[in-house]
Amino acid sequence: MDNAVLQNMRQRRSCRAYQDRQISLEEMETVIEAGAWAPSGMGRQPVLFVAVQDKATRDTLSRLNAHFLGKPDMDPFYGAPTVVVVLVKADIPTAVEDGSLAMGNMMNAAASLGLGSCWIHRAREVFESEEGKRLLASWGLEGEYRGIGHCILGYPAEQPAEGALRKDGRLLEVL
Ligand SMILES: Cc1cc2nc3c(=O)[nH]c(=O)nc-3n(C[C@H](O)[C@H](O)[C@H](O)COP(=O)(O)O)c2cc1C
Repeated sequence: MDNAVLQNMRQRRSCRAYQDRQISLEEMETVIEAGAWAPSGMGRQPVLFVAVQDKATRDTLSRLNAHFLGKPDMDPFYGAPTVVVVLVKADIPTAVEDGSLAMGNMMNAAASLGLGSCWIHRAREVFESEEGKRLLASWGLEGEYRGIGHCILGYPAEQPAEGALRKDGRLLEVL
């Protein structure tokens, strides 16, 4: 079977090369809205989205991420100009599941708009660190937050390679 949603999911690829040009506020807000429509445990809607387009903050997040990656000279955001940080209060029992679904919705929505995106990890380590906690406080967030992921966004600088990207044999039919 096929439809526009399925086609979009098949053609989404992690993008690791971006143009310098910033995406529009409307594009960013549309992607975040898609994240906010994700289901959540008990319908709590606990996921917070911190939209970062300010270069200084983006670069601080990149530096912290590179530190935890163990590659301090790298930009783990691959030059992407927008970073959406996904956070959930640490005491929410479905924090990781809720945040991950929001990340997936955002990446699929980005693809549908012709934007590049990629999940960049280590949000947990970043927001458990003292500098990460200071960032949270500067965003008005007090208390313990679980960093789920960074959804980087931008206009792709190149088309991601195509290929046989999904493994067969993962559907175990017990009918
Ligand atoms: C939980 C998670 C963490 C990821 N972390 C990173 C990351 O830190 N850096 C990166 O370049 N890609 C990261 N990715 C992207 C995966 O490498 C990518 O989704 C995978 O290789 C499949 O490629 P596709 O997204 O093009 O289908 C992450 C993906 C997930 C789901």
